[in-house]
Amino acid sequence: MADDVRFLTSALTPDDLDTEVTLRPQSLKEFVGQQKLKENLSIYIEAAKMRGEPLDHVMLYGPPGLGKTTLAHIIANELGVQFRITSGPAIERASDLAAILTNLQERDVLFIDEIHRLNRSIEEILYPAMEDYCLDFMIGKGPSARSMRLKLQGFTLIGATTRAGNITGPLRDRFGVIFRLEMYSPEELAIIIKRSASILNIKITDEAATKIASCSRGTPRIANRLLKRIRDHALVGGSDIIDISIVKKAFSKMDIDSLGLDESDRKLLLTMIEKFDGGPVGVDTLSAATGEETVTIEDIIEPYLLQLGFLARTPRGRVAMPAAYKHLNLKPKDIQISIDDIISD
Ligand SMILES: Nc1ncnc2c1ncn2[C@@H]1O[C@H](COP(=O)(O)OP(=O)(O)OP(=O)(O)O)[C@@H](O)[C@H]1O
Ligand SMILES: [Mg+2]
Repeated sequence: MADDVRFLTSALTPDDLDTEVTLRPQSLKEFVGQQKLKENLSIYIEAAKMRGEPLDHVMLYGPPGLGKTTLAHIIANELGVQFRITSGPAIERASDLAAILTNLQERDVLFIDEIHRLNRSIEEILYPAMEDYCLDFMIGKGPSARSMRLKLQGFTLIGATTRAGNITGPLRDRFGVIFRLEMYSPEELAIIIKRSASILNIKITDEAATKIASCSRGTPRIANRLLKRIRDHALVGGSDIIDISIVKKAFSKMDIDSLGLDESDRKLLLTMIEKFDGGPVGVDTLSAATGEETVTIEDIIEPYLLQLGFLARTPRGRVAMPAAYKHLNLKPKDIQISIDDIISD
């Protein structure tokens, strides 16, 4: 399925860009859900402020669209410090990182998005920077080369990744705080949808917000995107309020089913069931059979299917679970899988 008609991808699309910033909560109070994370984070922030020291380095991980970038902004806001943003693939040379680090002011937040894509040699520069707020570098070449140490201002590094498993041990160990963002409950998503509707000046009934929430795959970015698309359907239909009938009509036009699965999800499940007898089947094989890239399957499609219990990961590959057969109105096969086989992350 082409990306331009894929409403349910949790990845950032050009369509999100115009509202992503307006809809982004600015403070922990406005940030919906992730209760435990927020409680802990606010204590750490408060304590760092009381001590007048930089907040410990924070790693945020979890699937796309759950609020990692939003939280990083909020942390800087709550600390009342400057926010610098870059990403793993954007830092090509050691001197790029050195320039960023030496420009940081006391207690600033440096946000490195997609930190798992940092080059290894650049990652090593981060170790002393994170640990001792120092930059080590060599002057000269050959036998006369000397190593020099430059003192940096104390700062907070926030690293975000969708792939915690790809972070090296030494880097992970240097983060004092590691938070995993969880998928949002439908109730939390309904609150986010109502908040976004009021910012975008859209009227919406509670029932409609609840319905959109239940199809948003636990992801605020998708909830906001669906809200905007359904607003278009309301507008064209001549209605100034989004109600349940508009939502249902829009979903059927967009091919989104009652659980929020779209064509790509159904295709993946059907491929597993019809071509591979429900699995186990490797993700690369699934990628070849469905035409979806492996990273798309792993980062975008699978997380929600795993959460619904439609799919399990085992050492031998993916397995379609009975709930998936039921949702697709198919007769489940006898699935021989023990709980020990299932890999969780
Ligand atoms: N807890 C929340 N409360 C309200 N809105 C939220 C929340 N989390 C995320 N959002 C909304 O979802 C959008 C996407 O969030 P964000 O860009 O922070 O996700 P991300 O985890 O950084 O995604 P990616 O992995 O693609 O970088 C934000 O613009 C914001 O409007
Ligand atoms: Mg982000």
